[in-house]
Amino acid sequence: MSSRSANRQVVAFDKQVIHAGNKGLDINHEEVAVKVDALMASMNLEQKINELHGLQQTPIEGLYYAGGDPDLGIPPFKMVDGPRGARAGTATAFPVAIGRAATFDVELERRVGLAMGLEVAAKGGNVILAPTINLLRHPGWGRAQETYSEDPFHMGAMSVAFISGAQNYVLTSPKHFALNNLEITRFELSANIDARTLHEVYLPHFKRSVQEAAAGSIMSAYNKMNGVYCGEQPILLTEILRDDWGFKGFVESDWFLGTRSTAPAINSGMDIEMPAAFRYSGENIQAALESGELNDETLHRNARRSVYQKVAWKLAEMEVPDESVVECEAHISLAREVAEKSFVLLKNDNVLPLKDESGLKIAIVGDLADTINLGDKGSSFVTSSEVSTPLDGLRSFVKNASVEYFKSDENLESLGQFDVSIVVAGLTYVEEGEFIPTQQQESEGGDLARGGDREDLALPEHQLSLIDRAARSSNKTIVLLEGGSAIQVTDWLESVDALLMVWYPGREGGSAIANVLFGHVSPSGKLSVSFPKAMNQLMDWDVNALDVDHDLLHGYRYLDFHDHIPEFPFGFGLSYTSFVVGELNVARNAIGFDVIVSVTNTGDRQGAEIVQLYVECTEAKMFRVPRELKGFGRVTLDPGETIDLLMELNDTDLCYYNMDKSDWQLEACRYELKVGTSSRNLPLASSWLFDGKQWQAA
Ligand code: BGC
Repeated sequence: MSSRSANRQVVAFDKQVIHAGNKGLDINHEEVAVKVDALMASMNLEQKINELHGLQQTPIEGLYYAGGDPDLGIPPFKMVDGPRGARAGTATAFPVAIGRAATFDVELERRVGLAMGLEVAAKGGNVILAPTINLLRHPGWGRAQETYSEDPFHMGAMSVAFISGAQNYVLTSPKHFALNNLEITRFELSANIDARTLHEVYLPHFKRSVQEAAAGSIMSAYNKMNGVYCGEQPILLTEILRDDWGFKGFVESDWFLGTRSTAPAINSGMDIEMPAAFRYSGENIQAALESGELNDETLHRNARRSVYQKVAWKLAEMEVPDESVVECEAHISLAREVAEKSFVLLKNDNVLPLKDESGLKIAIVGDLADTINLGDKGSSFVTSSEVSTPLDGLRSFVKNASVEYFKSDENLESLGQFDVSIVVAGLTYVEEGEFIPTQQQESEGGDLARGGDREDLALPEHQLSLIDRAARSSNKTIVLLEGGSAIQVTDWLESVDALLMVWYPGREGGSAIANVLFGHVSPSGKLSVSFPKAMNQLMDWDVNALDVDHDLLHGYRYLDFHDHIPEFPFGFGLSYTSFVVGELNVARNAIGFDVIVSVTNTGDRQGAEIVQLYVECTEAKMFRVPRELKGFGRVTLDPGETIDLLMELNDTDLCYYNMDKSDWQLEACRYELKVGTSSRNLPLASSWLFDGKQWQAA
């Protein structure tokens, strides 16, 4: 880190900090290989087969067991869901990943990974079935809340941070490999894609998770890629993951329907069938060996990958942390901090922040104000021992103002007697989430649930009518929007004074909401999913599709290409203070560029700004999307303070995937480096020409 001017600090993202303590990066592979080979030599066929599957269909206290042999001293894997906390008894429910992503704060996401990894370990687990890193191709995807982003660069940074944090304690399992981005038809659909789109858009974040963060395992996807189930797709599981990326961990299938065959799956590189042996039963494997469809070496290879990680991670010696770490004070305050930083202020016509003054009359409106709404009730569901709802948060914050609660079905005409109405609206597990058929929920004694993909992005009728009725009667209307993805707001945005996206904010959501509404913290989140004005601004979307063609355009890439101006672009979010991104200095180094930009807080309170770097390739021969995110940084500034932010851009990030050569290539063309505060506000630019050999500022 160098200082450009005597009194101005240059801040940069420090990779060392992110990777500290990640056990996956500490493995001595030569030593492990020797030990594992000795151990494998002592194993008979039955013992090897036992390493290839889970042990029971339903988890035991949240743990899914796989393999393990006490006689050989080999422990089982004990896998625990999932992306917003430990799904085992009660645990800290963090804000969902799409909310955490809005912080653009990799150091914070590392701390979330640390906390979740520790809680999973304290529950007795040694593998966390997270993070979900399927690219948000369309915001209607039911599991959007589980993932981070519609952008692969942003997704990769968040994923690497989470993995490195969690792998201080347990192995991670980035999922679902790959192209799992439609829910209802996930068991059958084929994602059709060419190699360029696959490598440039849908896989870079998986690659970084493997290569930069040494993810211990990978979960395959249910769907097919180009007609072949991902659980038996050799292009993904062997050619790319092993041969190209050098992955050393194991692959487990997604549950029940993720392994579709015996020999083809094993041969393709599907190591462990979860949650139990259906296709990988001793009987099926014996038959496959006898028929010659499977050979001993391949079976040995897959079993070795399971044993390898158990030895490399020293699972037999792993200590179980005391349960008191679960929902401990530090994790609770982390959940609150993340929630505060995840909220995205989308509109504010001089109404926020509120002042807690006596005489101020606040109405809080809507069933969701008083509902525990942590996200879907699929595999990522987490139960916390206590949850702060928006109503709880407001009531415990306010000392001087008065707060009155109105349910959705109450007479809202009297809202005119209040200074301000806070309407809590949005979605729940009913409208979006992992698809849980009603029957299955009932048989498990749960609520009647649905989830699945959303056909359109509008709020349900009853929520629209709530906002409409409240806005008509209120003097000032603030809408808090809960949900796990983009929501269409254009039809009613004019009628409200402020809009704050709070996602599914986790167990401390309510207190975080109060802290932000009253200005203890200025909102600083930015959208990692574009909010279109209407569905017709996006690509065609069919939630029942069985064949889906993927190309280079989706999200902001699609919107920019078609010149559709969304309601709120990718990377957008307001603050209570104001910022100016000033000078831009770009210099070549041996492998890319140092991009330094000055950021000043020009307002009167502390706040954080997320600066973004996009690259546009012009005069290119290849088709290139209009612009792509290639760097970002988050800075917290006091009023009047200026900081120089350094973003490093590597030439490798500018390459496209050349399908003829099956390799990355840096095209000779003009590269415009654009810097600003959202994908559609990029006032600063630096232009560079690459002639195939040399770079020149132009
Ligand atoms: C989900 C996975 C999850 C697994 C175990 C599957 O249905 O797709 O994400 O980890 O169940 O609960």
